[in-house]
Amino acid sequence: MSDLFSKFDPLIRQREELLATGLTDPFNLVMEKVESPTVAICNGKRTILLGTYNYMGMTFDPDVIAAGKQALDDFGSGTTGSRVLNGTYGGHKACEEALKDFYAMDHAMVFSTGYQANLGIISTIAGKDDYIVLDIDSHASIYDGCALGNAQIVPFRHNDIEALEKRLKRIPEGAGKLVVLEGVYSMLGDIAPLREMVAVSKANGAMVLVDEAHSMGFIGEHGRGVAEAQGIIDDVDFIIGTFSKSVGTVGGFCVSNHPKFEILRLVCRPYVFTASLPPSVVATAATSIRKLMDSADKRAHLWENSKRLHAGLRQLGFTLGTDEPQSAIIAVIMPDLEKGAAMWEALLHEGLYVNLARPPATPANMTLLRCSLCALHTDEQVGEILGMFAAAGRATGCIN
Ligand SMILES: Cc1ncc(COP(=O)(O)O)c(C=O)c1O
Repeated sequence: MSDLFSKFDPLIRQREELLATGLTDPFNLVMEKVESPTVAICNGKRTILLGTYNYMGMTFDPDVIAAGKQALDDFGSGTTGSRVLNGTYGGHKACEEALKDFYAMDHAMVFSTGYQANLGIISTIAGKDDYIVLDIDSHASIYDGCALGNAQIVPFRHNDIEALEKRLKRIPEGAGKLVVLEGVYSMLGDIAPLREMVAVSKANGAMVLVDEAHSMGFIGEHGRGVAEAQGIIDDVDFIIGTFSKSVGTVGGFCVSNHPKFEILRLVCRPYVFTASLPPSVVATAATSIRKLMDSADKRAHLWENSKRLHAGLRQLGFTLGTDEPQSAIIAVIMPDLEKGAAMWEALLHEGLYVNLARPPATPANMTLLRCSLCALHTDEQVGEILGMFAAAGRATGCIN
């Protein structure tokens, strides 16, 4: 019998070698207590959270929590069914109404995760003779959506408008085309030139899907994302998003103005063949989404935090993923995995949690310390964070 696990041997060896150095496992940290969107207890120590997707700090919002508790009391702990059978409650409809209002769009479809939203929408709308043109740095859920469907996949160089245009022009006349883009790319925290890319896509007869997972709630006047900020949201055919970031719970969605959109509820397998979200989750999501509509002050503070952290880290001598802060994600580029892991651990000892990201999740084989800011990080906390980066950076030799 051949061992089906032998393909994982190189990864097992790499992991064992890293842990043999005495390093804390960066992929097995336990949050023992979570005190707020910005502070948790890890290994018995107060730790500032700078590696969550809690951009707008909604997880402890009193209205959000009250809505979830009420729904648990009124509707129980779960639906035990698919959206197309017994799994659509009033709360799911209310959540979709909140999304329609938030985006000012005609249709909204809630999935059990953002991953499933990409999986479902991409695999369903792009069929056998169609083409999907996508940025090479797209999220795993976008690639998996392509893999689940039958369309031809055409990747283009990250954020390269000319490369996108060239790929589009090579597709046979009359074929269906879907261009898949992200507002914010979550590894380096850079944004897409959506205005130009959407224009090129439309000029070449393609429909456009934009994943705004990391911009919802924060970027754009109403928090609708990069497409809103760049003034082209009306030209985007499908926006994908998640509740697991700014909304502060779990779930995913697609919003659209396409007149035939509702048919997807019957043909989209990752929507049909899975249980719907628990009533408490859709209640917290709907409450959070409605509050995010009215959060201009928090958006402004989050931009302040992002600018201050970016400038401070740069001044300390770290190499960052973007020249300017473009989102709530600031990526610190590490020379290699060993140094990255050592720096990650040193920061944890200082009392700071960031994400350690490594290939294959990262572009160009980079090891990154990904910092994601929250609108509820105080000025004082941002100061503390910079102090911790200075101490850990010097202790590990990452900076002088
Ligand atoms: C760009 C992007 N799309 C989709 C998802 C999936 O979201 P969810 O956590 O809701 O499955 C993520 C999650 O990290 C993401 O970064």
